[in-house]
Formats: sequence, C-alpha cells, structure tokens
Amino acid sequence: MRLDKYMAESAQCTRSESRELIRSGRVTVNGAVCKRPDQQVSEVDDICLDGRSSTHQDFVYLMLNKPQGVVSASTDRHDTTVVDLVQAAYPRRELFPAGRLDKTSTGFVLITDDGAFAHDILAPKRHVPKTYRVTLDTPLTAGMAAGFAAGVTLADGTKLSPAEVTALSDDGRTVRVVLHQGVYHQIKRMFGVYGAGVDALHRESIGGVPLDQALAPGQWRELTGEEVARIAGR
Ligand code: URA
Repeated sequence: MRLDKYMAESAQCTRSESRELIRSGRVTVNGAVCKRPDQQVSEVDDICLDGRSSTHQDFVYLMLNKPQGVVSASTDRHDTTVVDLVQAAYPRRELFPAGRLDKTSTGFVLITDDGAFAHDILAPKRHVPKTYRVTLDTPLTAGMAAGFAAGVTLADGTKLSPAEVTALSDDGRTVRVVLHQGVYHQIKRMFGVYGAGVDALHRESIGGVPLDQALAPGQWRELTGEEVARIAGR
C-alpha cells in the first residue's frame, strides 16, 4: 500500500496529517528517511515514526518516566502534562494517564487510550500493586511499619487497606512502599499520620512491571504485550 495510507492507519491520523508527517522527514522506511507519500510499502518493510517502529495497533500502552513538575492529566491550562510528552507520536489518539502521580512525584506513569483496560487496572477490588521509593524527612519507625501493615486510618477517618514499608537506607529515610489501592496523596497522607513528611516520591513499578531503567525523566516507550498482560493480571 502507499506509505501515506499505511501511516494514517498506524498513527491513527488523517491522510493529510500522514502526508505532513512524511514530508517533514519524521518517517523512515528501512532506515532511510522517506518524504514521498506515494512510496509503496508492505508489511516486510521496517517503517518508523520519530525513530519508533510503527505498526497498526488497536490501543496504545506507554510507560513514561514522569519528570518533576509535569502533571498527570491529558490537558492543563498552565502546566505540561504527561500526555503532552508523548502526543506528537500519536497525533489522533485520545491518550490519558491510567492512574496519577503528584506534580512533584516522578516515575512510572502508564498512558493509554484503552478505557476498559484503565478502568480494570484502577478498580479498587483489583488491588494492582504499585511500588514507590520514598525519601522521608525523618527515619522510618517500627510504629509506622506496624501501622502500614495493619492499615492506616487517615486524618479524615478513611481506613486504608494494609500496605508494606521497608527501609532501603541505613538512616531509615529512604524507604520502599507497596500500595494495593490508590487514594489521593495516599503516601503523603499515610506518613502524615505519623508526623513524617515526604521529600521525594518515585514510582518504581506497576503490577509487577518495573520502570525501564533506560528511560531518563521525560522519556517513554511502548509496553510490550507481555507487560500489558502482566499488569492486567492475564
Ligand atoms: N502517594 C502520594 O502521596 N503521591 C503520589 O504521587 C503517589 C502516591
């Protein structure tokens, strides 16, 4: 088929948007930039947009290493959003973050356009585990660990399900927390019950899938089919 038809299908954009992508030099065929929309291609060709392999997919699932200062939303009037960081590669997809990190937090944010998948993994009864590395302004105490294991009751009376916390550093200020639910500002509020403040918070994994260490803050990649299935518990 023609390259512009192929790109329109794989990038989910209109033919004219596809031609624009091609003419601007963002598309390569077998390693060479191709600016001709009428170039004939087939499934044996290696076609990339912005250096990333481009095949038709029903849905997109991305792993982003969220930098500080970026908000977990699709659009925002003032701040850069996690979707702003990836949208250029998927011009017509209606992407959104499946789960949020605070503006100051960093690490793994899953971005998708698959509403059913997001609904499923965020459902409270699914308990998809999420792991965080947290820097505290005071050392972890045995009381905090016991409280987390029993289930913390927040200042507003919300009773949380059990969570795990373990010290990672000798001074007890760097800890790993595993949550099985998602409540707004959950970790900060949990430590707040014990008078401890959170200086930094980084999400390391979702559903047993670790954030790819090769991704610098702001970088992202597509999840593999195996990773998507693992997070979905399939
Ligand atoms: N808990 C928080 O308090 N903030 C986050 O960003 C994630 C979990």
